Amino acid sequence: MSKVATLEIDGKKYEFPITIGTENEVAIDIKSLRGDSGVITLDPGFKNTGSCESAITFLDGEKGILRYRGYSIEELAEKADFLEVVFLLIFGELPNKEELDKFKEDIKHQSEVNLDMKKVLRGFPPTAHPMGMLSSLTSALIAFNPKSVNVDSEEDMYKAIVKLLAKFPTLAAWTLRRKNDTSLENRDNNLGYVESFLKMMFQESGKEYKANKNVVAALDRLLILHADHEQNCSTSTVRIVGSSQAGLFASISAGVSALWGPLHGGANQAVIEMLEAIKADGGDTSKFIAKAKDKNDPFRLMGFGHRVYKNFDPRAKIIKKAADEVLAELGVEDPILDIAKGLEKAALEDEYFVERKLYPNVDFYSGIIYRAMGIPTEMFTVMFAVGRLPGWIAQWREMRLGKEPIGRPRQVYIGENLRSFKELDNR
Ligand code: ACO
Repeated sequence: MSKVATLEIDGKKYEFPITIGTENEVAIDIKSLRGDSGVITLDPGFKNTGSCESAITFLDGEKGILRYRGYSIEELAEKADFLEVVFLLIFGELPNKEELDKFKEDIKHQSEVNLDMKKVLRGFPPTAHPMGMLSSLTSALIAFNPKSVNVDSEEDMYKAIVKLLAKFPTLAAWTLRRKNDTSLENRDNNLGYVESFLKMMFQESGKEYKANKNVVAALDRLLILHADHEQNCSTSTVRIVGSSQAGLFASISAGVSALWGPLHGGANQAVIEMLEAIKADGGDTSKFIAKAKDKNDPFRLMGFGHRVYKNFDPRAKIIKKAADEVLAELGVEDPILDIAKGLEKAALEDEYFVERKLYPNVDFYSGIIYRAMGIPTEMFTVMFAVGRLPGWIAQWREMRLGKEPIGRPRQVYIGENLRSFKELDNR
């Protein structure tokens, strides 16, 4: 492959270096374009724009490949536990036993959340959406940890990262406790990360709580599947907010807000609401497929389609199998699972979806598992956020260590040209 790309504008030629990634991804480095020619590129939604070079996650949407730090998602989901994957994503290598034990202990030691944070939480009405509460609480953590992270110190960076990993599941669980108006507990340090998270969500006062170990394992796996997905909407948000040198907690709080939207992490909630609507309507999936295809109808098949995966989403494959296993294990019969399978089959046979390469994404089946675990629909995106936290942190750390410049796109202005101010009486 040539090492330069040539662009001709108005008869004048400009040359740009070509960058090739380790998986042979080819990019034209256009940093000098505007300086040399006065011209910019236009790419709404960044469909064709690489915002950074990154060594964290590789995905190939055509082939359905997803790897964290070179390890396949299938192998990690089968063999690793969530905190091993967290360490891998953030620090680049799988931890050895000593490193992993220390990491887990450090997280335990930082798990307590300042009592005044409970006052912040109680300021929200129980009707508040848990994602709104989670984003605000993450931001509020700054008030109780005001010292900014010295990113040139590995130790400082490590401490801030551990603090956030330790407190975030507590904040996430508390958003559910606030909705249910139940007591707010800190983490039980006798339990692992995932089990203690379940306990903080579900323990009833005065009663013993024992999580089903298969449920713990299934949730651990779900969190691994959500842990990173390169430059998606929320991750790009975290990197761009962090690029202004706003702190880690502020950047992650922005990521939580970005994840909330129904076109991103909010899709898992939207999927269940859609399946419920189909059920309430008598279960006729063809009507909803027709609505999704109708260009005059804003309805979309939630949990279908992906900006990058144009063949299949490897996470959806693993999750579909896990949904069957978890429901069987818990003895849950959920008619919604049958509707989901029927909908998937009908869509995969429909020319509209085939032509546009629309396949079930990670969110199509994850909500069904969360539901079987007794997690309320409004909490699904919070579950996603707990899973995605290490990815956001890893990407923030990479961006800060790489001393990336502040993120600041340009635009093509299409508004009015210069005009004179009209006095109020003349308008
Ligand atoms: N239902 C019906 N039609 C769809 C769907 C869908 N779910 N998704 C895409 N299309 C159609 C579009 O209408 C468009 O059709 P056209 O070419 O005739 O105009 C074509 O497929 C391409 O769609 P775009 O919106 O251009 O694709 P884009 O890459 O911008 O969007 C997205 C990807 C946002 C995920 C989209 O597929 C969608 O809205 N899906 C439903 C929401 C969802 O499940 N989001 C979760 C994504 S995974 C995640 O964030 C974790």
